[in-house]
Amino acid sequence: MNALESRPLRTLVFDDRGDADRSVAREIAELVRAKPTAVLGLATGNTPVGVYAELARMHRDEALDFSGVVTFNLDEYLDLSPGDPRAFRRWMQARFFDHVNVRCENARFPECDAARAPSDPIAGRPIERFADACERYERAIRSAGGIDVLILGIGRNGHIGFNEPGSTRGSRTRIVELEATTRADAAHVFGDLENVPRRAITMGIATILESRAIRAMAFGRIKAPIVSRTLAEPISPALPATFLREHADATLYLDRDAAAEIAR
Ligand code: F6R
Repeated sequence: MNALESRPLRTLVFDDRGDADRSVAREIAELVRAKPTAVLGLATGNTPVGVYAELARMHRDEALDFSGVVTFNLDEYLDLSPGDPRAFRRWMQARFFDHVNVRCENARFPECDAARAPSDPIAGRPIERFADACERYERAIRSAGGIDVLILGIGRNGHIGFNEPGSTRGSRTRIVELEATTRADAAHVFGDLENVPRRAITMGIATILESRAIRAMAFGRIKAPIVSRTLAEPISPALPATFLREHADATLYLDRDAAAEIAR
């Protein structure tokens, strides 16, 4: 084991998940107040919903102003029709953007530059034809000044974003094939496993690790095995979440259930 492999990930365990949500939201609010043009990296899924709800409350009750904030979402499914209600863009709209004042043009998604005209359909489009869109997303993040704080969930298989096991440390925004567990976890949203998209576009591990701060979260008993492996196993593409241990300012927020299998 080398020095990097033994580096711990700062880990906070909360009795109540709501306290973890509020703690992450408070930190983001402080950042936005101190830097009104802050750049946020955002995840979808069950994990961050409480953070978005708390930020929306702060916007409503405490005039937290997002009008100068720029956001970059981690990932998006491919091969959905434009405006599909299951797209992450729509999910973010319902959970967050509809309740705060982030400007529409400042809410960026990795597929946003891929043309979506009927003459240029995404469904079935070969991977090479997304190269420009991926490169433009990377450039957009850089020209916004880089991500100040990235909110992250962890998949049961150790993915971060949609960087499935096998994703390398140097990976960047790209098209990926989704693993069976990832698709199974999304089946309830799509009604049936067969309907879950097989491909997605995601920030890479290198893109994620360039964020100045990372606030990763995991809640519930179902996340306990992957949380304990993330903290204990060697840093490797076999378990992408282990790369968080290479980051100088990453923190993992857990509830007691998610922390239940951490080796002492
Ligand atoms: C979502 C994302 C994924 C999820 C992960 C955990 O944008 O990038 O990595 O964070 O699959 O999902 P939940 O939070 O639903 O358990």
